[in-house]
Amino acid sequence: MTDVSLRVFDSVLDMLSNEENPTPMVRLNRVVPFKHTAVYAKLEWYNPFGAVKDRIAANLVRDALERGVKLENLVEPTSGNTGMGLAMIANASKLNFTATLSLAIPAEKRAALRVFGAKLVELADDLCPMPGAPEGAMQKANDLSQQPGWHQLNQYKNPANPDAHFRTTGPEVWRQTGGKVTHFVAGLGTCGTITGTGRFLKSKNKGVKVLGVHPADGHDIPGVRSLKALKLTDFFLPAEYDGVVEIGNAEAYRFCKRINQEESIIAGPSSGMALAGALKLVPDEPGAVCVVIFPDNVFKYTSSIRKHLPELFPAEAGAAAQAQPAADDVIEPVETVKRVRGGAVLLDVRTPEEFVGGHIAEAVNVPLQALQAGVTAGLPADKKAAIVAICGVGKRSLAASQILKGLGYADAKSSRGGMNAWVSEGQPMRIR
Ligand SMILES: Cc1ncc(COP(=O)(O)O)c(C=O)c1O
Repeated sequence: MTDVSLRVFDSVLDMLSNEENPTPMVRLNRVVPFKHTAVYAKLEWYNPFGAVKDRIAANLVRDALERGVKLENLVEPTSGNTGMGLAMIANASKLNFTATLSLAIPAEKRAALRVFGAKLVELADDLCPMPGAPEGAMQKANDLSQQPGWHQLNQYKNPANPDAHFRTTGPEVWRQTGGKVTHFVAGLGTCGTITGTGRFLKSKNKGVKVLGVHPADGHDIPGVRSLKALKLTDFFLPAEYDGVVEIGNAEAYRFCKRINQEESIIAGPSSGMALAGALKLVPDEPGAVCVVIFPDNVFKYTSSIRKHLPELFPAEAGAAAQAQPAADDVIEPVETVKRVRGGAVLLDVRTPEEFVGGHIAEAVNVPLQALQAGVTAGLPADKKAAIVAICGVGKRSLAASQILKGLGYADAKSSRGGMNAWVSEGQPMRIR
């Protein structure tokens, strides 16, 4: 029988947090420079599927079922955490779940989604896709949801997103602080967390300051959105907040490291961002009690950590420097044609679905993901062979050319502009 006080649960779904079964809050004692203000981190990876998004995944599905929506195939554009929550809720509810997402999402999250049973449609989006991008994750989810039997819960527009936090996160914070919370700080993604929790806390005490933290444009902090990219969520409502601040990559990752090393808390990069923002926005004054949401833990982000905290990987620093693309690693489509005529192997590194949708006759399909996973099938045995990689727009092929060099293929190039440039320049679909 479920007994929260004993931490015994009849079902994994009973572990989802709520006022009686809250995620822990722990006071930060070393990274906070304040004399007076007490700063608590709320550790959201204690939710059963590992992140703050478990709350909305459960509430979006509950709400849809209560409204009588027939759920069979769920589809959602997701940077990972909502997808992971939905994948597991879908398993528990015998539904199918498809996530549309950017290939820029860390490989760890994509691997977790697969092992959780989600079907993945991966696209060459930026980390923060903008609406209207014709091949973007959002458009793809919209398209798929038009099929009979398919449904998109739409975390960017569905009021059940902030409502999840109004029902759970807000009451938890209120109760855990004994009503003493004065400042609430959250990173901004869909803005369900800040808006729902903020509304609840202000309904209890109008004086609670609700504060948001967002990354800079072109950032590399998974889960959150820059000010520009926040336009696409219905729940970014700055008029309801008391302040918003921008934090850059470097500061976010520096704080992530400090939280781990000085507080022994296994927080991920966006927790570093949120805390860095909190320390800018929250005053140091007697009686102040600040709660900062730490959305998930660091284990999903080892590839991002490698990139942004290279000092932690001194042995790899030399190799990384060698892996920087050289100026002549990217070649023009006409040069690709010449090389292939001269016997170079043409590797199309897009997904099999994209490849089937149209490719150059001589191309061999070796998806970038396969290369990233260490698969070498389809590559020439001779390391001296000339290879040209091609993809949709030239981003994945550049990454592939660098992996190939790392594997010892010294003559690996990337075709500039990918199939987009190829087609618009009228290059031949059969070269030889
Ligand atoms: C990993 C992750 N997911 C989600 C969010 C944002 O939550 P929301 O979508 O409720 O704004 C954050 C915010 O920091 C985050 O770091």
